[in-house]
Amino acid sequence: MTQIARFITVEGLEGAGKTTVLNAIEAQLRTAGIDLVTTREPGGTPLGEEVRALLLGHKHDGMADDTELLLMFAARAEHLHRVIRPALAAGRWVLCDRFTDATYAYQGGGRGIDMARIATLEDFVQGDLRPHHTFLLDLPVRQGLDRAAGRSEPDRFEKQREAFFDAARATYRARAESEPGRFRVIDASQDLDGVLAQLKTSVAALLAEVGP
Ligand code: TMP
Repeated sequence: MTQIARFITVEGLEGAGKTTVLNAIEAQLRTAGIDLVTTREPGGTPLGEEVRALLLGHKHDGMADDTELLLMFAARAEHLHRVIRPALAAGRWVLCDRFTDATYAYQGGGRGIDMARIATLEDFVQGDLRPHHTFLLDLPVRQGLDRAAGRSEPDRFEKQREAFFDAARATYRARAESEPGRFRVIDASQDLDGVLAQLKTSVAALLAEVGP
């Protein structure tokens, strides 16, 4: 394939079916002959995975909101340096489980950190690098939390109240509305077959858009 390498992200609240969707996108892209790197945030590097453990675990419950925000961007800086930029420079596509839209949704919407401060850090850490395409798996908060309940011991984010996720969802949706060219919103409230059907069409449209 000769297209410019694309940076694709997948976003959504807990219980949206992100893992299944990531696997389906990966399979469809690989079938189309695309050389792909799959990764995740927070994480994606040895340092980033250690930061992820700090962020999701309960050892530092009650960390300051700014600490949480800066740790997200610290892990991201390492991820960009070691994985994302080198892959794109080598012409490989990157499929990433969450990226900076999650920071706007969770730290901005959920925690209430000023979005302008997040934008400053985004520019500082990423320069002008932004995802080319973002799949947002959208579903009512309650439905997602019910699906996620009982899966495993809740992490530091899964322990948040419903109002936190309401604000995160509203932020995701507002971002999707303001950047319709980048976002593809998938109705994740449907059953698995319905979600996968929407996704297949959406990935096919993306492939058609970027051309052979
Ligand atoms: P997950 O990858 O298993 O969905 O878990 C990651 C958690 O971290 C999830 O609750 C969302 C949260 N998160 C943020 O709060 N801000 C971020 O910038 C990122 C990437 C994730």
